[in-house]
Amino acid sequence: MLLTFAPVLDRIAEEIAGLAERGRPADYIPALASADPNRFGMAVAELDGTVYGVGEWQQPFSTQSVTKVFTLALALARKGDPLWDHVGREPSGNPFNSLVQLEYENGIPRNPFINAGALVVTDQLHRMTGDASGVLLDFLRAESGNADLDFDRDVAASETAHGDRNAALAHFMASYDNIANPVPTLLREYFRQCSVEASCGDLALATGFLARHGIRADGSRLLTRSQAKQVNAVMLTCGTYDAAGDFAYRVGLPGKSGVGGAIIAVVPGRCTLCVWSPGLDERGNSVAGVAALDRFTTITGLSVF
Ligand code: DON
Repeated sequence: MLLTFAPVLDRIAEEIAGLAERGRPADYIPALASADPNRFGMAVAELDGTVYGVGEWQQPFSTQSVTKVFTLALALARKGDPLWDHVGREPSGNPFNSLVQLEYENGIPRNPFINAGALVVTDQLHRMTGDASGVLLDFLRAESGNADLDFDRDVAASETAHGDRNAALAHFMASYDNIANPVPTLLREYFRQCSVEASCGDLALATGFLARHGIRADGSRLLTRSQAKQVNAVMLTCGTYDAAGDFAYRVGLPGKSGVGGAIIAVVPGRCTLCVWSPGLDERGNSVAGVAALDRFTTITGLSVF
């Protein structure tokens, strides 16, 4: 089907502007709490790097947990299947920062997209490269073509100042020998990764390798076809925390959200999307973001189902 995304995005932006319930921005650090829930941007990237955008699609924001997808891909590319000895791939059904399952499950987190799992994946990437956050930043710059992408040092410092729960998760997993680096080193790497500032356009492009079955923007391969399928599957089942079932039901695409209000999504073999609006629902997903992706798959019929 020949489809240009520009009118689709215009229609979605118009519908989202009329959305009465926008949710509330994350309030655990001041840098996120001041965001206006009425802000909205959305971008779609074709496999060849053509980007369509609407609203504030070029506005940088705090990417937060969206970067967990890229860290997972970078770690999986280097370590392969043994990565799954350290982290599972089942939905948790619990909030993203929950501690409870870890003790029953001997320090092996349920999946790479809850905080505990992302800490383990970052730990593995840092053990293999000595610079997990640097490797992530280089990758995002290369795939987006935006050499100015960077960490927000104030956000990283604020995360550190309010990081007791992540520190608890990391220490607890270290007690099960599931963390290789010193916990303070791991937390520094993890908070830097959460603090990356990027726009919808940047993230839609950076996600492209998942729609191209593992192939990067320059034509080289990051993941095998099978690994790209695996990452997409884990996004579908675990990418929106304890709302993954509802997200799959409404949107029907692999997706990953962050508490900055962004959600990335993949239509394998076709395109990638990023939507941003800082108002969150009670499970930490952008209210307008989920609604916009729901509209996108309904209007275009593009879904994995
Ligand atoms: O780790 C944290 O608590 C924050 N940086 C939140 C990250 C996020 O978006 C939700 N995580 N899964």
